[in-house]
Amino acid sequence: MKKLKVKDLWFSYSKTPVLKEINFSADKNDFVVVVGPNGSGKTTLIKCINKILNHKNGLVQVDNISTKSMSQNEIARTIGYVPQRGYYTFTTTIFDIVLMGRKPYAGWKPTETDLQKTSAILEELNLGDIAMRNMHQLSGGQGQLSIIGRALNQEPDILLLDEPTSSLDIKHQIEVLNVLKGLTKKGMLVILAIHDLNLALRYCNKIIMMKEGEIFTQGGLEVINEKTVEAVYEIKVDLIKHNNDIIVIPKTNNH
Ligand SMILES: Nc1ncnc2c1ncn2[C@@H]1O[C@H](COP(=O)(O)OP(=O)(O)O)[C@@H](O)[C@H]1O
Ligand SMILES: [Mg+2]
Repeated sequence: MKKLKVKDLWFSYSKTPVLKEINFSADKNDFVVVVGPNGSGKTTLIKCINKILNHKNGLVQVDNISTKSMSQNEIARTIGYVPQRGYYTFTTTIFDIVLMGRKPYAGWKPTETDLQKTSAILEELNLGDIAMRNMHQLSGGQGQLSIIGRALNQEPDILLLDEPTSSLDIKHQIEVLNVLKGLTKKGMLVILAIHDLNLALRYCNKIIMMKEGEIFTQGGLEVINEKTVEAVYEIKVDLIKHNNDIIVIPKTNNH
């Protein structure tokens, strides 16, 4: 059982605070989305949870243990991280990228178990057939899944992803989100930053809506509504119901 708790978290790169008084908690099986405009602090929050950035004030706790008292290897065995997608120009195979995820467990050479776990993840993510391809020979979707595979090979309880669907076409966005949903069903706590409010509503059970470094509001699907979207994004939207889903439609003057 893993519970993540963020308490009174503040962070600043220089003098001005970029994260202010962040409070939330999440549990295994939760699919949490962090939404909010560019620059509202989503990436910084994710990096603070993962201890890539060291927060100055407040607490990040996993099962009541502060991440400050955890080593980098312990963090890596508990929290997987998929950074915002860059361009993969390096000539490393998918297999080696996913194997890299075993680093928090491995000594100087991978064991039979490390190799087996790597193969299992490649199969699970449908990357088996292209495992020997280089990262720069992949489509966006395959590249993203490979980096997710690397994070999963750390066998984390919590998976953080920074805009994992942003550069993907709709089919691959759905593919990645379905993989993540499957993980939450098996007990993983997934937290991701995402811009598409409609996809957020389709997949998550918890929403954190950020504005200017603060949590503007948080809760269930009701968090995304005409008022909050207008207050946070400064645009007007209509919400309509389609089957059992809520769809957010920006109001424009184009027609
Ligand atoms: N390395 C950095 N140094 C200084 N300021 C930064 C750095 N990274 C981000 N910021 C600032 O912190 C704020 C939050 O950024 P970020 O967390 O990247 O937001 P988001 O991911 O929501 O777009 C922004 O004002 C941004 O300019
Ligand atoms: Mg960001």
